[in-house]
Amino acid sequence: MTEKDFLPGAYQKMPKHGKVTWKAPSNIALVKYWGKKPVQIPANPSISFTLDSCATTTSVSFEKKADSELFSFDLLFEGKPKDDFKPKILTFLERIEKYVPFLKAYHFTIETSNSFPHSSGIASSASGMAALSLCLMDIESQLNPSLDNGLFNAKASFLARLGSGSACRSIKGNLVQWGMHKNIPNSSDLYGIEYPFEVDSVFMSYCDTILLVHKGQKQVSSTVGHQLMHGHPYAENRFRQAFSNLDTLKAILASGNLEEFIKLVESEALTLHAMMMTSMPYFILMKPATLEIINKIWQYREETKTPVCFTLDAGANVHLLYPASVKEEVMEFIQNELVEHCENGQYIHDRVGMGATKIKG
Ligand code: PMV
Repeated sequence: MTEKDFLPGAYQKMPKHGKVTWKAPSNIALVKYWGKKPVQIPANPSISFTLDSCATTTSVSFEKKADSELFSFDLLFEGKPKDDFKPKILTFLERIEKYVPFLKAYHFTIETSNSFPHSSGIASSASGMAALSLCLMDIESQLNPSLDNGLFNAKASFLARLGSGSACRSIKGNLVQWGMHKNIPNSSDLYGIEYPFEVDSVFMSYCDTILLVHKGQKQVSSTVGHQLMHGHPYAENRFRQAFSNLDTLKAILASGNLEEFIKLVESEALTLHAMMMTSMPYFILMKPATLEIINKIWQYREETKTPVCFTLDAGANVHLLYPASVKEEVMEFIQNELVEHCENGQYIHDRVGMGATKIKG
């Protein structure tokens, strides 16, 4: 599908008002997206586990207005007006208007809340943009009832990508791939697809415990981080590596070879942070506790042979990944060794999930 496929035809109906609600999960990348071209086109393909309980629920109420000159919306976050989020939403609406041209015909009330604690350092942009995009697609399907399910999901992912790149991987489960790759049929730079190859059952119930190391504001945003890949001395090699890691991962996912899975996933996480450290200006998002945790994971794995590994996103928090079959011993390990490195002892248990869901209202 190309951008043109996402331009709607004439709308068949124009309801006066209504309300839709969607819940979209967060996701954690195994092969990371870092570096992009305008507009939100990834420099390399990526793949992620869709999460289950870390999610954003968004309701959009819409009311036909007299004029259709300007965007008009109110934004409530966890029940309270949140004006500092409005510029980001406005930029998003401007960017997607061409594809959802009903936007200026309505006044919207957007109410959003996260399942994870407020300012936990967990990025809510992926789940947030995915939930909002699904709400807008739901409204579009009321305007155009013949919209089919495949196009609905692809376009929701396409819109979400225009809000925040990795958000396009938060529509479906359990593994979502984004970015054109010659060996992955139907892969696209424009939207995420459900991973099309065989996946061993061990990965279907994989666990992700997010260790909250640092809950404050990030020192460098991912928008800036992506920009710094332009002219980065190692960028081209990094992009090539991501393409090749997706090839390598194919056999690993099919066979359930956890030893190889761990190597690839940890290397991806450290490469992402190595790119940050070798940017100009350079920066470090890991904290001392991030490294303490990584070292403890390595030591524990060496001693017990438990297949637990880590990954990182653009922050200091550590995602601990492990199969459900070793959950009990990993819980014990977290309690005994890792909790002390978490801010206020906080962590969140999550697992691979099935994707976004419509909430009946
Ligand atoms: O979607 P963004 O622009 O916030 O970028 C996210 C980048 C990483 O989380 C670091 C990697 C990824 O693929 O999710």
